[in-house]
Amino acid sequence: MRRVGGVVRPPGDKSISHRVLMLAALARGTSELAGLLTGADVKSSARVLRQLGADISRIQESGVRISGSRFQTPDSRLNCGNSGTTARLMLGILAGQKFAATLTGDASLRRRPMRRVTEPLRQMGATIKESGDGLPLTIRGGKLRGLTYSSPVASAQVKSAILFAGLTGNVPVTIREPYRSRDHTERLFAHMGLGIHERGGAIVFEPTVGPSGLPAVNLSVPGDPSSAAFLVAAAILADQGELLIENVGVNPTRTGFLVVLERMGAHVERVNLRDEGGEPVADLLVRPAGLTGTEVTAAEIPTLVDEVPVLAVLASRARGATVFREVGELRVKESNRLELVAANLRAVGARAEARGNDLHIEGGDAPLQGRVETASDHRLAMAFAVLGTLPRADIRLSERKSVAISYPNFFRDLKQCFA
Ligand code: S3P
Repeated sequence: MRRVGGVVRPPGDKSISHRVLMLAALARGTSELAGLLTGADVKSSARVLRQLGADISRIQESGVRISGSRFQTPDSRLNCGNSGTTARLMLGILAGQKFAATLTGDASLRRRPMRRVTEPLRQMGATIKESGDGLPLTIRGGKLRGLTYSSPVASAQVKSAILFAGLTGNVPVTIREPYRSRDHTERLFAHMGLGIHERGGAIVFEPTVGPSGLPAVNLSVPGDPSSAAFLVAAAILADQGELLIENVGVNPTRTGFLVVLERMGAHVERVNLRDEGGEPVADLLVRPAGLTGTEVTAAEIPTLVDEVPVLAVLASRARGATVFREVGELRVKESNRLELVAANLRAVGARAEARGNDLHIEGGDAPLQGRVETASDHRLAMAFAVLGTLPRADIRLSERKSVAISYPNFFRDLKQCFA
């Protein structure tokens, strides 16, 4: 009998950490941020912002102090590491700066598409030199014009890059997306009194203060629901007990996995609901549950896009079949998650297949064993580590250190849930 118990706190929200760090670096004055994620991705954003002239103290959970300043030409390439959010959001910020900068990243990031961002930024007036659809590329910003843009993908990174370009270029922008993606940038703009609103289903930014009037920001970053999702999944797969996961962001554009879990038969209780800097936050109370397969619709995907690997792992233990519709975007994440989730589930003895842009999984209860190729993708490593907590499972990960991207203490916390 596997018993789950105790209290855990997931690390700070990765999406919010990037955004608030960038806004604080652009602001005039000194900002104080608590609860920032200390993972490698956020350190990539901090490194790049320092190269542009921001004064940022060591990234630690207890508090980070940022003194913003006018950005200056960097004296070397801006290395975004493994972080798509750093690369895409910084492109938006650089579009409004009157100098040239070259962005690059690790092998995984250099394979990821950037045209979805460079295209609208070019329409706003930025000059971008790229040799293919990806990094490295050189952007020269300057005087921008306003933009009304319908994004072909529901991507918060695309939306945020355009909003940041509107902010640094001091021009209005209007963005439509096929489905609503995470809205942390909008909430932070609202929290800081910048001119953001919704009009007829579109996101509209109309500059109020100008880039040099950006106020400093003091904020406590909530825990990351995408990191909490792995602990939720581990608790659901246990046989008895109850796990309390404290301080989790429950922004509805991020909690699609809780909606899908409810449909599959697991109820995660939200207690102590509160507001933290314009974001809803709660503690999650999770108990083990038997699951039934479900269909996850295309409209739900943006609300759980980073949780597909862990939901897929849970679906492999459910009664009946699960299908995720229109998850082609997973091919261009830190790895080709669509193919690798399916291939790794098969490698450990479960039934899964990518058919076109859909992911099909057949649930079962045979003991699982085998080797998982994580391709250095943090979310694959964590999803399959959760599967490895099952009794009679023997799952070997090709590596474990990629968890440092978004959840440096993941293995410690996972172990603690079963102590
Ligand atoms: C993120 C948006 C999502 C998500 C990524 C973080 C963000 O990517 O997968 O982990 O912080 O805006 P897309 O915007 O490309 O869907």
